Amino acid sequence: MTDDLLALKTETDAALAAAGDLRAWDAVRVAVLGRSGSLTGLLKELGKVAPEERRARGAALNELKEALTAAIDARRASLEEAALEARLASERLDVTLPPRLAPTGLIHPISRTMEEMAAIFGAMGFAIAEGPDIEDDWRNFGALNIPAHHPARQDMDTFYVPGIDADGRQRVLRTHTSPVQVRTMLNQAPPIRVIVPGRTYRADHDATHSPMFHQVEGLVIDRGITLGHLKGCLIDFLRAFFGITTLPVRFRSSYFPFTEPSMEVDIGWNRKTGELGGGGDWLEILGSGMVHPKVLANCGIDPREWQGFAFGMGIERVTMLKHGIPDLRPFYESDIRWLRHYGFSALAPAMLHEGV
Ligand code: PHE
Repeated sequence: MTDDLLALKTETDAALAAAGDLRAWDAVRVAVLGRSGSLTGLLKELGKVAPEERRARGAALNELKEALTAAIDARRASLEEAALEARLASERLDVTLPPRLAPTGLIHPISRTMEEMAAIFGAMGFAIAEGPDIEDDWRNFGALNIPAHHPARQDMDTFYVPGIDADGRQRVLRTHTSPVQVRTMLNQAPPIRVIVPGRTYRADHDATHSPMFHQVEGLVIDRGITLGHLKGCLIDFLRAFFGITTLPVRFRSSYFPFTEPSMEVDIGWNRKTGELGGGGDWLEILGSGMVHPKVLANCGIDPREWQGFAFGMGIERVTMLKHGIPDLRPFYESDIRWLRHYGFSALAPAMLHEGV
């Protein structure tokens, strides 16, 4: 090969070595083999070469062309391989690494308590019943043996909703979940075993009262139901819910128009430390009683054949006690810091406590 051809070979080898990616490589290829490439130019000029030298020059050019083509192809192959290596390295996944946890929402303590109650009472054979927030005064009061002008209507600080419904009844925001007792008894034949979680409303607003709050109601109707069933059911529930197998539970005589006899239920705690269990002090936690025969009759159930018990409790109150939440108001403020602190992971199952 003549010097000019050797120089072109050397130059091209250097340019190929310097081409770090496929774009640079392609520029070298075009500069050498393209239509106005350096080798193409030399081939075009072959015609001008003196006839006696043409043969040797042609052979040398062919040899060079083969060498350059081979070098160019080889460089392409090595650049492609390097690109693939780099991609494989950068895209490598370690499938054994633990997953990064995506931020998720948390379960509000009220929802969590409702879930726990559903789990505990569910295990005792209770179903869940629901009713509307806007009730009529017959279901909220009358059917529950709270006649017009009964003082209990005042006690409840009722929100009256303007307008009378089709049955001529005053509409109210339900002041307790007890109207769902009435709905359930009217809609389903005994035996009945339901709990009723839901929103309730009273015109009351201070540090310990919210105009909207939550209750859970319980209703059991069957043959031969006694106070013993009520006591056993509520003791089991309270000990399971608070996770204290020895939680002291006291039944204290009380009055509700819709139960007879009626009992308030207290649990043991330490007033000074706020700790539940021992401590010698009592904390009122729920209302209960044997369903009043008049209520059964109002709901089309024969009280000589069927008996039952009912109970109702505030969900915020038991939630605050269980988790040591000191203030009621943040329950409804959606403050993300409070929710992060008191919220529950959606993946943590509602645990039932051992031994209960
Ligand atoms: N409804 C009552 C209240 O809101 C609670 C209760 C329910 C009492 C069922 C006895 C039976 O205070």
